[in-house]
Amino acid sequence: MATICVESLTANIGAEVSGVSADQLLGDEAVAAEVLEALERHGVLALRGLDLDPASQVAFCERLGPGDYSGDNHTVPGIYRVTRDKSKSSTAEHLKGTFVWHIDGCTPLNGEAPQRATLLTSLTVDQSGGETEFASAYAAYEALSEEEKERFSSLKVLHSLEASQRKVWPDPTPEQVERWRARPTSVHPLVWTHRSGRKSLVLGVSADHVVGMDPAESRALLEGLLDRATAPEQIYRHSWSVGETVIWDNTGVMHRATPYPEDSPRELLRTTVFGVEHIS
Ligand SMILES: [Fe+2]
Repeated sequence: MATICVESLTANIGAEVSGVSADQLLGDEAVAAEVLEALERHGVLALRGLDLDPASQVAFCERLGPGDYSGDNHTVPGIYRVTRDKSKSSTAEHLKGTFVWHIDGCTPLNGEAPQRATLLTSLTVDQSGGETEFASAYAAYEALSEEEKERFSSLKVLHSLEASQRKVWPDPTPEQVERWRARPTSVHPLVWTHRSGRKSLVLGVSADHVVGMDPAESRALLEGLLDRATAPEQIYRHSWSVGETVIWDNTGVMHRATPYPEDSPRELLRTTVFGVEHIS
């Protein structure tokens, strides 16, 4: 029996979940299952006024799947503080890279699958920016013409850290370039056929070029598809209020933050659920 209330926020992506307390999320196995089901259907779930404390956020994340504890920077293991304040996070500088559309985990170090899901809880917000935008990679595929679906079905795309970083650092030092190139590149199909049978496009800033395609044609194709997938009428833009939690399906959703300044009070707490499905 359904215990959570789910209301769509846009035609393609996003839903608001209500009628659920933090205690229910943690204490009820069925609720976690319903949240995962809603996540598969809507891509992004917003739970306003949930007021999850950090330990509860980690515990709830564990109900969705094994959590990633590798990059934490908080007293509670598994929590990563998303802030541009360098006194709070030694990796604050990296957050510039979140201002461009991407799917997390497209250039893994050791061939790991992209992360399954990410949870963010807002501690403090910025009144003049710092929203998080989401676009459905499933809807991006479904919007293709039949001819495009056929033509793209065999294309492979090389993803690299260098492609991602050049957007953020257009004038890199030789040392930066050397560091980026030390990370393995990954080749993924443009069209991801999920275990569920659904198909999505694998796009975003890490997509460097279509393997074997003329560079100018490749750039035009990837940029054109990204523009279509992230057109204003296709996306859900989340404006943060204090104490809410947002969960997204990183395997079928692209995301980015709208820019906010280094001295912004914006601070979110992030937890990540490991992926179990490789892009294929
Ligand atoms: Fe991200």
